[in-house]
Amino acid sequence: MDHSIALVTGATSGLGQATARLLAEDGWREIIVTGRRMAQIRETAAQLAAETKRKVFTPLELDLDKPASVRSALAELVKRERSIDFLLLNAGMVPGKARVITAAGIEASQAPLIGHHQLTVGLLRANQLSPNARIVIAGAEPARGGVPMFKYTDLPAFAAKYFRNDRTAAVEALIRNGPNVKYVPNNAYADAKLIVAWWVAALARRLPSGMAVYAVSPGAANATNVARNAGPLLKYLMIPIVNLIPGMNQTPETAASRYLKASEFGTDVSGQFFASAKGKFSGPMEVQREPHLHDGANQEAAWQAVVNVSGADLSHLEWLREVSGRSVGRGDRNP
Ligand SMILES: NC(=O)c1ccc[n+]([C@@H]2O[C@H](COP(=O)([O-])OP(=O)(O)OC[C@H]3O[C@@H](n4cnc5c(N)ncnc54)[C@H](OP(=O)(O)O)[C@@H]3O)[C@@H](O)[C@H]2O)c1
Repeated sequence: MDHSIALVTGATSGLGQATARLLAEDGWREIIVTGRRMAQIRETAAQLAAETKRKVFTPLELDLDKPASVRSALAELVKRERSIDFLLLNAGMVPGKARVITAAGIEASQAPLIGHHQLTVGLLRANQLSPNARIVIAGAEPARGGVPMFKYTDLPAFAAKYFRNDRTAAVEALIRNGPNVKYVPNNAYADAKLIVAWWVAALARRLPSGMAVYAVSPGAANATNVARNAGPLLKYLMIPIVNLIPGMNQTPETAASRYLKASEFGTDVSGQFFASAKGKFSGPMEVQREPHLHDGANQEAAWQAVVNVSGADLSHLEWLREVSGRSVGRGDRNP
């Protein structure tokens, strides 16, 4: 991949900011950094330029909760007529005790995926990703399971109980925290990152052949703002305990370096979810092999639900791939 143009969402703090810094040090020619408000992201870009002594940061306003903001960001990007080589969909959050639903009717920790989907589909449709672009989206270990205090939803069972086995309707309910979903903040986060992993697998089947997409958990980096909304049990008990265990926490730079590593992965592992080894939150990342992550019906249901909620589809690309002889959209090609 050309080390040319990267775009990093959620760059006003934490891992997005750390990644932008690493990309500049790595020689990337331009790094588009996004934040919800222009004044704030301008300040971040100036601070990054001062720290790295490289004038390579372009601020862009992007609030993933607001479809109008995604549309304006896309219009800006399309106007530039320069394609993006590395699209890092990093923005995300652990939701708080009070359930927040955006004006578009989406639970707050699910909203970044919907905005990221609108952005990615918009860039693909406008041909603004380079032919061998890499897309990385932030995942997290709770999507795999086995993380204390976080529990993801068993989708087939949930769909069978409340939605006559319609898994797409069931994922839509999770995204909206709608009918039959009890709001438990940590579980909402686990579900949001699980839907991210499924979305990645489904998108991989739809991308042009040179491009690749991965879900990557950066692992634990407790010095960021990620848990700012989290409940006291997580904030004041679990995180401090985890911090005491060697190898269970890492600096934001170490965590961010996972994103950079993934930007060099090949198309052969496109669609996979990379995270820490079982029982760990740091160290080398590996492909996650739990069966629920690799269930093709879950992946396609997640894709369709995200399409329905976001109103953004790639069907014209799928049609193009079908006429050029590549099958899309059915079954699970993951190992
Ligand atoms: N740190 C960890 O231990 C850890 C572990 C696993 C996964 N992750 C994932 O890594 C990613 C980065 O987290 P972090 O630790 O760097 O947290 P952070 O310091 O809170 O940074 C998150 C960034 O995302 C932005 N953001 C969140 N929701 C947004 C929205 N709807 N629209 C636009 N921007 C939004 C935030 O902007 P505002 O400040 O304006 O909200 C901020 O710039 C997240 O996806 C997180 O889930 C983190």
